[in-house]
Amino acid sequence: MKVYRNVRSLAKKVSEIKRLNDTVGLVPTMGFLHEGHISLIRKARKDMDHVIVSIFVNPTQFGPGEDFKKYPRDLKRDLDICRKEGADIVFVPKAKDIYPDGYSTYISVRGITEKLCGASRPGHFRGVATVVAKLFNITAPDIAYFGQKDAQQAIIIKKMAEDLNMRVKVKVMPVVREKNGLAMSSRNVYLSRRERIQAQSIYRALRLAKELFHGGEKDSGIIINKMKRVIGKQAETKIDYIKVVGIKNLEDVKKISRGSLVAIAAWVGKTRLIDNVILN
Ligand code: PAF
Repeated sequence: MKVYRNVRSLAKKVSEIKRLNDTVGLVPTMGFLHEGHISLIRKARKDMDHVIVSIFVNPTQFGPGEDFKKYPRDLKRDLDICRKEGADIVFVPKAKDIYPDGYSTYISVRGITEKLCGASRPGHFRGVATVVAKLFNITAPDIAYFGQKDAQQAIIIKKMAEDLNMRVKVKVMPVVREKNGLAMSSRNVYLSRRERIQAQSIYRALRLAKELFHGGEKDSGIIINKMKRVIGKQAETKIDYIKVVGIKNLEDVKKISRGSLVAIAAWVGKTRLIDNVILN
């Protein structure tokens, strides 16, 4: 496994790989890797000749007052995981290399970036789309792997890749959960024991949505209210949104059909968590 710390040296390596006609899988991350990331690396390892994992806490996707500075980082542990999981290349750029002085180009995927998390984190998906587009350009992946936990992010990246005729295929892998149902997230490390227990109500509410839907309930308003009651019982948990939306356009759905997305964002103490299920 080789670690690349700047764009130019990695781009050179990628050109060599491409000359061989080998396939490249990219797993973009912000580090502090967990089982969710590992599932992506394993899938890429299975599918592709070369696996590149990028580790970059992208400043442009954090708003003022968000957790950019305190976002958990542990590069040594991350590199050990990447090595163990068989990554070939780990890309750990410096912010200056991704956004040099005078940097001025951003990608804005209109519409779907303003809904759900975009409404409470303005500019977040502009930062995500921009850095992911740059990572696609630098690493020229055949397939890029993302987690379903960040459902909106995955939908936006697919749309960007399609709109901009990018050659990459975007593969979305299932949410990986702790035994108690809590979706794996680097931010779970912020939770106290008490908050961690309260955070489990998020998945309980999503499971309830599934049960209600499979039991014949198709009215999103009724389902959302019942979900709110589950989460509302937790003293330190505050709902940002609970929505049932179309899987592609993220428009609110009143009468639920197959393939609708139930998405939640909630504050547990000072930590904002997101999770979702697809109703199938
Ligand atoms: O999901 C993440 O960790 C980040 O948003 C991503 C895709 C690596 C872009 O910084």
